[in-house]
Amino acid sequence: MEPEALDPATARALLEWQAEMGVTDAIGEEAVDRYALEAAPPPAAKPTPVPGPEGDAKPAPAAPPASPVSPASRTAPALDLGLPADPVAEAEAAAGAAGDLAALRAAIEAFPHIRHREGARRIVFSGGTPGAPLMIVGEAPGRDEDVEGEPFVGVSGQLLDRMLGAIGRDRRDPGADRGVYLTNVQHYRPPGNATPEPEEVAMLAPFLRRHIALAAPRIVVAMGNTPLRALTGQAGITRRRGTWIEDGPVPVMPTFHPAYLLRRPEGKAGAWADLQAIRDRLAAG
Ligand code: URA
Repeated sequence: MEPEALDPATARALLEWQAEMGVTDAIGEEAVDRYALEAAPPPAAKPTPVPGPEGDAKPAPAAPPASPVSPASRTAPALDLGLPADPVAEAEAAAGAAGDLAALRAAIEAFPHIRHREGARRIVFSGGTPGAPLMIVGEAPGRDEDVEGEPFVGVSGQLLDRMLGAIGRDRRDPGADRGVYLTNVQHYRPPGNATPEPEEVAMLAPFLRRHIALAAPRIVVAMGNTPLRALTGQAGITRRRGTWIEDGPVPVMPTFHPAYLLRRPEGKAGAWADLQAIRDRLAAG
């Protein structure tokens, strides 16, 4: 479509849609006729994510465009870039070397294998009060968190604040008796808010485990499948919510993600039961 054919409202709607899909840069003045390029190999089929109990609604990211590079360079053998054979082992080493939360944040910022960092505005490391007895772990920053640099500040964060308020917790209260500490498995907003692949979760898990060790909460709440997978290696939040996981250094309560509850309010009864169990365990000292 010729740009001149777009009325301003349509152009704005298209731009907003692209931004929502994770487009961050305009890459050329001249349009590329991708049909004239030699057909690139089709991208690996990726199932369309279905909104479920695992976290935020995830619109399927737009398929990547055909590469405009020459056919020769497309078929060239992969260069040896010196990448580690095992990014998980490298993450373990980087996380383990961090002696405090500031060092852990710096280690994440310096870790070279985090995908999508370039598309995010900033790192979203944590919010609330470090050292609070209750630590919330979500999935990944969304658009609002990317703008503000703090986890859970969008609509699902507003529901989370109400849920925490119902058990006497407030992220803005620095006191140990009411405070909360918050983070995510991913620290950079993924394009299109895509759900992270299990391999990426496995790579980020050492940073999360170290984050928990350094923040030293009494209880961790895993909100949705991504933190559940990072902490246990398995998903299945619907089956596992409401049951304490006791085999690590800190007890973990898996529960529904607030974004899921916004879409599926029938899950709120279970989430409320989980919150009460968290409140009672905190009160038990
Ligand atoms: N959803 C998350 O899982 N984390 C956030 O910080 C915001 C939304």
